[in-house]
Amino acid sequence: MPGTCVIGLQWGDEAKGKLVDILTENHEIVVRYQGGANAGHTVVAGNQTWKLSLIPSGILRDGVVCVVTGGVALDPASVIKEIDGLESRGVRIGSKLQISDRAHVVFPWHVAEDRLLDVSLSGGEAIGTTGRGIGPCYRDKVGRSLAIRLGDLYRTDFRSKLDHIVAIKKRMLANWQAGSGDAPGVLPNADPIALDAALIHSQYMLHAERLRPYVSDTTTYLLDSIEANKRLLFEGAQGALLDIDHGTFPFVTSSNSSGVGVASGSGVPGRWIDHVIGVVKAYSTRVGGGPLPTEQINAAGERLRERGREYGTVTMRPRRCGWFDAVAARYTARLSGVDELAVMLLDVLSGFDELHICAAYGIDGNRVEHFPSHIEDLQKAVPIYETLPGWQEDVSAVRSYDALPTEAKHYLARIGELLGRPVGIVSVGPDREQTIFCEHTASKQRQWPRHRLSTPATA
Ligand code: GDP
Ligand code: IMO
Ligand code: MG
Repeated sequence: MPGTCVIGLQWGDEAKGKLVDILTENHEIVVRYQGGANAGHTVVAGNQTWKLSLIPSGILRDGVVCVVTGGVALDPASVIKEIDGLESRGVRIGSKLQISDRAHVVFPWHVAEDRLLDVSLSGGEAIGTTGRGIGPCYRDKVGRSLAIRLGDLYRTDFRSKLDHIVAIKKRMLANWQAGSGDAPGVLPNADPIALDAALIHSQYMLHAERLRPYVSDTTTYLLDSIEANKRLLFEGAQGALLDIDHGTFPFVTSSNSSGVGVASGSGVPGRWIDHVIGVVKAYSTRVGGGPLPTEQINAAGERLRERGREYGTVTMRPRRCGWFDAVAARYTARLSGVDELAVMLLDVLSGFDELHICAAYGIDGNRVEHFPSHIEDLQKAVPIYETLPGWQEDVSAVRSYDALPTEAKHYLARIGELLGRPVGIVSVGPDREQTIFCEHTASKQRQWPRHRLSTPATA
């Protein structure tokens, strides 16, 4: 049976990249199906660190095909830079990479729009996007008439389509800029290419030639692969709380980053995905604007940030940090159909006397255990914490569940209980090797090597 899926259950950066790299060992195809160059996925192998953005984190392994599907917002320059970077470090790409001709293309005006419009939201807090043009590219996709897909770059009418769109974008951007007193000069001075059709055309034709060997109909390829019984691994980008439909709207990204996006983004029907792994950090982080109910703007938050090196992979912004929010993660685990949990960065919690897990919210004097649908309610939410004893030991060298400190096992077990899912994987450091696979939760669907499983234990 083909499909495993890795979904971040928080606000992104849950260490999905690390997990996907490991699970690739037991899969034949790794699929990125949403998001774009807003993602930054880190893999640490030995003394080498790899930062991946559009290319699936499976690319470091031999014998796999990595697929970027039509659900992705594709910035050609970014993906070319990534290919070059990987090849310069000895990673063979060759026929390992396939990119969908249906992927919507990010153009310079998308980046300009992103930076111009995210100054503040209706006079309120800015979303704090990554500035990679993701929202505007998806907006054009849904709007249809101003959209260009990767396959369009190879068609004879590309130039006329481009001229038409640039003429409209020029007017729109000029109007937006005129109305944005806060962001003078974003266009056209800061980025003249955003509005120059001839320049964009020549640049994107070069990109198209460079990408030609990789471009294909990935939907058909994946459907064929399923029928051929290949094992697929789906790599989510962002986190489920940033999902456009189900996240903390409007402080979200512009794609379905929860489990619901797998089928629409890849073209693979959900019934083929038989194992969903929900990835969480052992605490909470968020980069950008929007509510983070358990945020700690104090010494505890600072400590999490410094120990966890919580600075954005894409923008280097400091991540906001707080305690584990079980209300939020229970919601996204249900939403994404999660079978088991991977709890990452457990090592960061060593040294706290006490740890706190948010088990419910207090909203307007009521105890609430479900995740509110509107951020106005979430902004009012006061976390109701359970306090658990911490542990002092450094756990980064621990390789079996049983060898973890008792308090760490209690902490993991409590997360599993509150989310109603077993904790099957624990990460105690960035390296591939710093990973514990817990046999006690192994299910029949599991697709990873027996040699990785650690001693049974009771969660
Ligand atoms: P992703 O976007 O979900 O792939 O996550 P990022 O790569 O943006 O952020 C996760 C960060 O945590 C990266 O710097 C990883 O190298 C690092 N990391 C992954 N697992 C662990 C862990 O168990 N412990 C620690 N300390 N760092 C980890
Ligand atoms: P990975 O895949 C964390 C956040 C941005 C911003 C909001 C919207 O590495 O987990 P966008 O540029 O998408 O329009 O920004 O979403 N964001 C992420 N936060 N990890 C990510 O990706 C993110 N991708 C987008 O900070 O708050
Ligand atoms: Mg990241």
